[in-house]
Order: sequence, then C-alpha cells, then structure tokens
Amino acid sequence: MGNTILLLSNSQKHISKIETAIRWESADLMVVEKNDLMKNMYSFQAKMLLVDLDSFGLQTLSMIQSILNVEYLPVIYFFESEEGYSNSLLVSDNITVPISKLECGISEMVEQGTGFKNRYNIIMESYDAIDLMNSSMKALIDKYLLREDVYDIGLIRELLNAVFSGNRFISNYPANIYVIFEEIKTAVEFEVRSDGFVYEKNTEKLNDLYGFGFDTRAENGFHKNFGVLEYSDIESGVKLFPDFIYRDMDRINNFSGYSIGDLIFIGFNYPNTVTHFDSAVMKAIAINVDLIEGVKRNMRRVEESFIYTMNALARAAEVNDDSTGYHIKRVNFFSRKLSEELGMGNKFTKEIFHSAQMHDVGKIYVEKAILTKPGKLTEQEFENMKMHTLYGEKIIGNSSHLKMASEIAANHHEKYDGSGYPQGRKGTEIPLSARIVALADIYDALRSPRCYKPAFTHEKTLDIIINGDGRVEPSHFDPNILEAFKRVHNEFKRLYDIFQ
Ligand code: C2E
Ligand code: SIN
Ligand code: FE
Repeated sequence: MGNTILLLSNSQKHISKIETAIRWESADLMVVEKNDLMKNMYSFQAKMLLVDLDSFGLQTLSMIQSILNVEYLPVIYFFESEEGYSNSLLVSDNITVPISKLECGISEMVEQGTGFKNRYNIIMESYDAIDLMNSSMKALIDKYLLREDVYDIGLIRELLNAVFSGNRFISNYPANIYVIFEEIKTAVEFEVRSDGFVYEKNTEKLNDLYGFGFDTRAENGFHKNFGVLEYSDIESGVKLFPDFIYRDMDRINNFSGYSIGDLIFIGFNYPNTVTHFDSAVMKAIAINVDLIEGVKRNMRRVEESFIYTMNALARAAEVNDDSTGYHIKRVNFFSRKLSEELGMGNKFTKEIFHSAQMHDVGKIYVEKAILTKPGKLTEQEFENMKMHTLYGEKIIGNSSHLKMASEIAANHHEKYDGSGYPQGRKGTEIPLSARIVALADIYDALRSPRCYKPAFTHEKTLDIIINGDGRVEPSHFDPNILEAFKRVHNEFKRLYDIFQ
C-alpha cells in the first residue's frame, strides 16, 4: 500500500483535472463516496484527502470535519466556482486553494501532506505504545512491588512485552534491546522476535572500560540512523559502542534509547528509521522501571527501619539478663522453623520471624524484683507476672503492621487445652502465631538458665515438652505444632547451639 490520496468530488471535470495533475506522482488517487469516507480512510491507510468545495455544502463539510476529528488526515479543500469559494468560509481553518493552484502545486502538497500523515502515524504509534504500557502498569506494580530482587528482570521483560508485543499499533520495534545496569555493572540483552515477543537472551558483566562514545544522558533520550542524512549529536560510525554490544551486532542500522539513574535502555536495528518518538517509548519504559525500583527501595528502607525498631523494643524488654539478645533471636528462629514445617506461606513465616521477639515486651511493666527473684513466685507475684501478656498487647498497640506481634504478646501463654492465661482461650481460639511462639518460648526457657532454674539439656527439654512434667503438659500444645516440633527438634538443638 503506497501513498493513497482520497478525492471527494461530484464533478467529473474536476476529477479528470486532478487525475491528470497527479499522474506523475508516486501516489494513487481514489475517488470515494462521501458516505464511504471513513471506511476508505482506514482500508487504504490514506495519507491525504482532497475535497471539492464546489460539490458539497454545510452538511457534508461538517461531516468531513467530524470524521477528521476522530482520525487525523491532512486535507486540502479546492474550489472553482463562486459558490465553492464561499463554501471555503465554512472550512476556514484549513488549506483552501483554487483548483488551478492545486493542479500546478500538487506535487509539493502531496509530499507535505503525506509527510504530515507519516509523522502523525509515528506519534500515534509511540503514544499508543506508551498508553498500552501504562494501562498494564497497575497489574505489574502489584505483581512486582513485593519481589525482593534488586532490578527485576521479569518486570522489565513484561514491560517491554506490554509495549512491543501484542500492540497492533506499533510497527517499528527494535530487534534487540540492551538494558544496562551501571551500578551493578551488568547488561542484559533482550531479543524481540518477529511477532514482537520479548525474551532475555544474555547477561553480560561489564568491564571497567565500558562506556559509550556519545552522551547517553540526553534529556529526551538519544537516537541515530546510520546511512541516512540526518541531524544528530551522535557522530556517524558504528564503533561508538562498548564491545559487548558491538560484538553481537552484525550491523547496526539505527538505535534509540534513554537513560535514567543508573539504567540505560537501548533498542537496536528498528526496521524503519528511528526518531525521537522511538526514544520517547524507551523513555517511558525506563521511567516506569526506575519508578517501581525506587518505590521498592524505599519500601525496603522503611521495612528495615521498622524491623530495627521492633528489635530495639524487644531487646529493651529483655529481662532474662541476656544482654546479647539471643533469647529473642532464638525464639524468632524456632517460630519460623515451626511455621515452615507446618507449611505456612512465605508471608507468614517472614512475619512471625520479626514478630515472635515481641512476645515478652510487657515485662517492661513488671516489677524488677519479681522478674529477678531467685526462688519460686508467690501466688500474688505470679498474678502480677501474668499481666505481662496484656501489657505487651497494650504497648504494641493496634497498628495493622503489628497485628501478629500484638496477637503473640497477648496469647503466648494461652494453652491449647484452655488452662492458660490471661483469657483461658482454647484450641483455635488462640491465634496460630501465638500457638507456635508458645512452644518456641517454652523450649528456649527450658534450655536457658533463669534466676529461678538452671539450664536443661536438649534431651531433658524434649522429654518435658513431649511427656510433660506437671507444669508443662503435651495437652498445652496444638497437636499439629507438637508433631512438627518432634520432626524438627534437632534443628532446635542446632539453632540453640549457634545462638548461645
Ligand atoms: P520464662 O522464664 O521466659 O518462661 C516462659 C515459660 O517457660 C513459662 O511460662 C513456663 O511455661 C516455661 N518454663 C520456664 N521455666 C520452666 C521450668 O523450669 N519448668 C517448666 N516445666 N516450665 C518452665 P510461665 O510459667 O507462664 O512463666 C512466665 C514467666 O514468669 C517466666 O518466663 C518467668 O519470667 C516468670 N516465672 C515463672 N515462674 C517463675 C519462678 O518460679 N520464679 C521466677 N522468678 N519467675 C518465674
Ligand atoms: C451533498 O452532500 O452533496 C450536498 C449536501 C450538503 O452538504 O449540503
Ligand atoms: Fe511470656
């Protein structure tokens, strides 16, 4: 399909004149019915429209205007008669010429008109590509925000696919795309298959000499066509690329790219010449990747400081004269081990690992004399001590981020058979997290020296938990958790030995 020019005219005389004038142009003239205008614009991918003002009045002319508001097409209105001339007032924003002028200047007009249309198509293509990507961003953000990789190749691949594959608008897409991560000195090569599907091909380490022979930091990206006369900041000559790119490219016809932060995106070997609209597509992709990675980095930072604060609070409440903080650390590890063994998901095991350590924060409010009393507690003292569960719940408060920590503090002395405190909850009334921490805490308390008891061996501890000793009974534990403990008790021993 070449350059099709549509002609709307009811005058056979005018049609012949234009046919004659256009005969030497590299364009096909199609005379169309006004009612078929829209259809023909699409099916011939017309580049230009000529409208005879002598043939049509207000009604048709406004119909044409409204079609052109939907789909842009350069248009030239022409007239011969007085009546046609007065109709030109109805389309005064447009180019209107006497037919004689059209006959002699048609070659220039066709060239300009088709040039406009081609450019318009390129703009629309990049706009559609960016628009399509933006509409798939929400799903991608949800999917990739919580992943931990620094620079997620999966995210980049999906974004590239959102732009280049399955996009019926875009025809100019690169054969290869390099994504360069300057900070980690790595380049990933993606190949774009003929159907536009993008997949990862190679990952390369960059050497110290890596660098481009042109400025990759241009505000609106960079692009270059070789073997085409064009204005460009980039010198001609292909060997401006680092080896790792040059080596794999038989011949580089053109490239287009954008860099942001320590990321560079470059597409190579587009079928058509590249323009700054191709750079705009790369820019949109790069900015989106940078944005998500930035949000991820900040989320990680917030999470790290959150975890740090939790640990600081938990340690402040450490009362077992364990200045190393190993008790709370071990309870974290035991709880995570049990969760994994119970087949809990990643989110739960991660959360319990940070939350378990908070179980005894309420002891901050219990008198030091009670906490450090060498002998057995009186009934009154023990009643006091029991309050540490409720104090803990209160200290932690009801932030949604700390929901599990709060549940654990409140419920870690509840017992499965209902004989625990502070509420005497039973079975699954006790949150799972707290049922898990209860066992982890008791294992650790038994293994450790306390002001009121010596440390017990792993074997003695195992015996107390599995067979009971009057104070601890197997019925105190969730049977599934107890079974899980029996399967992994050796790992408890190992962890205890490490963190002692
Ligand atoms: P803790 O020392 O961290 O102990 C946590 C839990 O481990 C205890 O919860 C109990 O279930 C178990 N446990 C600890 N030591 C032993 C033991 O020698 N034998 C058996 N069978 N189980 C043990 P519990 O009983 O609700 O106690 C909560 C907290 O009250 C203890 O935390 C400790 O700080 C304090 N506490 C309990 N009994 C005494 C005591 O006789 N003297 C003193 N000074 N403090 C006590
Ligand atoms: C026509 O469509 O041929 C004339 C009707 C009009 O546009 O006024
Ligand atoms: Fe406790």
